Amino acid sequence: STVPAATRRLGPDASGLAEAAALLRAGGLVAFPTETVYGLGADATDADAVTRIFAAKDRPRFNPLIAHLPEAEAAFAEGDFDEHARRLAEAFWPGPLTLVVPAHPKTQISDLARAGLPSVALRVPAHPLAQALLAGVGRPVAAPSANRSGRVSPTRADHVLADLAGRIGAVLDGGDTQVGVESTVVACLGGTPRLLRPGGITRAALRDILGLEPAVPASADADRPAGPGMLASHYAPRARVRLNAAQIEPGEAVLLFGSARPAGHKRACAALNLSPSGDLAQAAARLFGALRDLDASGADTIAVVPIPAEGLGEAIGDRLARAAAPR
Ligand code: TXA
Ligand code: MG
Repeated sequence: STVPAATRRLGPDASGLAEAAALLRAGGLVAFPTETVYGLGADATDADAVTRIFAAKDRPRFNPLIAHLPEAEAAFAEGDFDEHARRLAEAFWPGPLTLVVPAHPKTQISDLARAGLPSVALRVPAHPLAQALLAGVGRPVAAPSANRSGRVSPTRADHVLADLAGRIGAVLDGGDTQVGVESTVVACLGGTPRLLRPGGITRAALRDILGLEPAVPASADADRPAGPGMLASHYAPRARVRLNAAQIEPGEAVLLFGSARPAGHKRACAALNLSPSGDLAQAAARLFGALRDLDASGADTIAVVPIPAEGLGEAIGDRLARAAAPR
């Protein structure tokens, strides 16, 4: 059967890796760690395997997937890279960057993974387990974040199992991910590259390499998402999320950053600090786990203090805005 009854937790060793690669080569679903978040992998060249990703996540099929490759050379065979794309790949791969480029006429990546688009999203992750797994599979691996569609992305194996146990073959357990927010998605489709999703590579780092400011997405309003999957409501915990909280109401949970304390914070039913020292990289790494943990406190609202928008703060603010969007 294609829907496994029990999901196995595989260790981060040679036998776990071999089993994960074999499952993927046989058309199964395996979640695995990348440096950003855990991905839900399937053989990107196998339309049936890709179909299982959409089913396991309840993901709308118009939302295309990222294909993961073990090295840049393999990615160059799947898409047409212009000068901007080449430069970004050279600077940031392996790493938390996804490039959307025109699909190569001979791409192996199935139409379904690309949601029928003429473009393809490619990424070479830096996590050693991801690299070893991709090398073992020997084919592009499609992998969205390993959460139920619309929910908070997973940064550890337990998060994957909380959302997908019984729906996927296995999770390769590599502990906590390091970056904590997803890859930056940049479209290089002619003209100025467009920043489709802020993520682990900052806008300033893109600007440094490109020598220009990346363009905004073609349509930046909520009803017509910039990327096919950039819906306004996303990353949603069960609780309501309230941003830029200056004051805490009784019964709310509070998500803190740095040393600032909103008025009434002592009456919060639960509190977590993303980074007491005000370090945005640490805050990004803790963000999704903190949202899951505060959700588990049972509070009906998570109040979030203001977080600076520079550097990784842009990606943090993007995820929090989607978590707070009307559902
Ligand atoms: O860090 C990450 O990127 C993680 C790890 C697992 O690699 N993956 C991830 O995948 O976040 P996912 O599916 O949750 O997000 C992929 C984003 C979506 O917003 C999707 O719409 C966009 O990339 N995307 C994929 N292909 C595209 C394309 N051809 N054109 C525009 N956007 C595309
Ligand atoms: Mg996702």
